[in-house]
Amino acid sequence: MPKKKPATAAAPTTAATVRTTSDTAIQALARQHDFLAPVFAQYPLEVATAQGVWLTNTRGERVLDLYGGHAVASLGYAHPAWTAALARRAESCQFQSNAVALKVRARAARRLVRFSRLPFGSVFFVNSGAEANENALKVALRMTGRAQVAAVEGGFHGRTAAAGAVSWGAQAKWYGFPRTPFDVSFIPRGDCAAIAEHVTPHTAAVIVEPIQGLAGAVDLGARFLAALRARCDEVGALLILDEVQCGMGRTGEPFAANLYAVRPDMLTTAKALGNGFPCAVLMMSPLVAASLKSESLGTTFGGGPMACAAIEAVIAAIKSERLLERVRHIGAYIRRTCILGPVSGHQGAGLLVGLRTTRPAKEIHAELLECGILTGTATDPQVLRLLPPFIIEEEHVDMLRDALRELPA
Ligand SMILES: Cc1ncc(COP(=O)(O)O)c(C=O)c1O
Repeated sequence: MPKKKPATAAAPTTAATVRTTSDTAIQALARQHDFLAPVFAQYPLEVATAQGVWLTNTRGERVLDLYGGHAVASLGYAHPAWTAALARRAESCQFQSNAVALKVRARAARRLVRFSRLPFGSVFFVNSGAEANENALKVALRMTGRAQVAAVEGGFHGRTAAAGAVSWGAQAKWYGFPRTPFDVSFIPRGDCAAIAEHVTPHTAAVIVEPIQGLAGAVDLGARFLAALRARCDEVGALLILDEVQCGMGRTGEPFAANLYAVRPDMLTTAKALGNGFPCAVLMMSPLVAASLKSESLGTTFGGGPMACAAIEAVIAAIKSERLLERVRHIGAYIRRTCILGPVSGHQGAGLLVGLRTTRPAKEIHAELLECGILTGTATDPQVLRLLPPFIIEEEHVDMLRDALRELPA
């Protein structure tokens, strides 16, 4: 019998083929494990409970968490004031939309602006980092009437249409949309001389992570950020700081904008903001806020009372427990004591730490997890990323140091 020729073109997709494919896929998945979308690589760790900086796995073993669920668990786990604030809010009124006024929402907005020590005029609460960036870009395009955006090589801003468009490498790897909603120009990282070529009188906004998180805690520095600010002023573009990962105290200052003395027109933050209750925010200068009209932005869940109670509790704990000082102190302690074994250097700021490794960070990540320490990796394969809760103490860093010392260099 002649062998069946391989098909040269994919058969057209019909409703029937889609149904058959998905039925087969569902059965295969159900046999495998569960119904979760198979899009995440998972660590060999199943968490049952957590307390402070410790996770307990389903076998009852403790794991020191130096990764904080992608930088989210700012106050660690089961923080009493945060837990009580959420419980109180759940009992009193767990949700009302932005169509009604809520004291907790107004308080969270006011406290956030005060915490930032930056001259913001307005905040818009949303649910995720990508959504905050999506809205920031929309506001910039509409306000300037321009259709181009500049971003920085290596940056990550989220997986929605606009946020993905300004994420470095997304189009080659995972973007998925047939086209981006605007033209994007990527500025080489840290290259002040290249800024003018990429930020022109047609540029609506520059979006930048002051410290690139996923890239491996790559600090773009005060000089580069000042040059971006100056060029934005020159051509009438808006500067958007994406502090989804590096903001809310993670650098030891309220925001990296404070650390580098750069004035943003808009700033987005999320992750540490709610300590695990999903929330994000877009903060705007008074000038940007004045460009908004009724219904130009919207959300159902953004600014919900549970989220706002979580935000209030996070800010209150950062203040009352002097966590900014702690972030600075422990950040410096890690950098002083943990450059040993397979770690040859460090980058980043505060508790957004990139440890440069002499061999693939993935190997070191796996070896540390075997020792009961959870860390993170980055798109740079030679960087091990630490994003621990702000409540971490020296003794926890000593455990990391002792474990690193035992690992092959
Ligand atoms: C700097 C930065 N911006 C945006 C995002 C997207 O945030 P989210 O996953 O909440 O949409 C991330 C997430 O890792 C991030 O690190």
